[in-house]
Amino acid sequence: MLTLLKLLKDGRFHSGQALGAALGVSRSAVWKQLQHLEAELGLSIHKVRGRGYQLSAPLALLDSSEISAKAVSYDWPAQVYDSIDSTNAEALRAVERGQAAPFVVLSERQTAGRGRRGRKWVSPFAENVYYSLVLRIDGGMRQLEGLSLVVGLAVLQTLRELGIAAAGLKWPNDVLVGQKKIAGILLELVGDPADVCHVVLGVGINVNMQSADEVEQQWTSMRLESGKMFDRNQLVALLGEMLQRYLARHQAGGFLAIQSEWEQNHLWQGRSVSLIAGVNQIDGEVLGIDGQGALRLKVDGVEKVFSGGELSLRLRDDS
Ligand code: BTN
Repeated sequence: MLTLLKLLKDGRFHSGQALGAALGVSRSAVWKQLQHLEAELGLSIHKVRGRGYQLSAPLALLDSSEISAKAVSYDWPAQVYDSIDSTNAEALRAVERGQAAPFVVLSERQTAGRGRRGRKWVSPFAENVYYSLVLRIDGGMRQLEGLSLVVGLAVLQTLRELGIAAAGLKWPNDVLVGQKKIAGILLELVGDPADVCHVVLGVGINVNMQSADEVEQQWTSMRLESGKMFDRNQLVALLGEMLQRYLARHQAGGFLAIQSEWEQNHLWQGRSVSLIAGVNQIDGEVLGIDGQGALRLKVDGVEKVFSGGELSLRLRDDS
């Protein structure tokens, strides 16, 4: 089915006969595959009698050799899938199979994309970036401190460099424009954090997506914010450069080396918020983050510090 898509991706007309010949199947088999493409991947294909079939818009697909040609300062091997359950899940399976880190897993779509706090990450075909970088961490808990915030900053700077100037951070690791989410980060760990472990840095960026019914939270995309389409291969190469830069700073100086830059980009600095932890809610004012990336809140006049993957922040109306 995806071979057919690759034939159509130029956005030009292709006759049923030519497509059938290229695939070695009958014209009616081509027709069936086209129906499948539309239903499965949500693509729209024009059918014009006498001319053939045409995608409603040309499609630029991810390409690992294009990505490595554009990425000059690192050489993490990247595996690109047409479709996978979750790039994080595949990255963890690759670690289990013994694949040597660092490496990157990318996919054109995810059928079970994972978000934080058990949410699903909506992942339509060929519109966004679903990216997982695997690192091996050798006996250094310090290397894990604040790591998800470091990734957030690298993602933010990638978006800024590509012109999304209004993007900012929301603790712990959302990237927002205004109140709308444009990118999310999910770290997953396997092994012993006190000895040898592997960490999967999962990044989802809404790139060219313009509509999605199933997303449960307010969202936006780079295209919606700028009115432009983005080259995802270039974006992935740049994301790698930024990650490399920020991870090196983090490794050399710990989270302290990143803390103030992170705070400068925190959209909710000084705001009145509610911190949600399961069924509990704590109201306070955001003071900032500490040297490990934990949230500092003023609660009833007293500073308190919070950390943990299951926490989430909401703005209070009065701030
Ligand atoms: C969040 O809820 O904000 C985190 C979303 C993380 C989504 C990315 S997409 C690539 C990687 N693979 C996944 O299954 N999830 C992460």
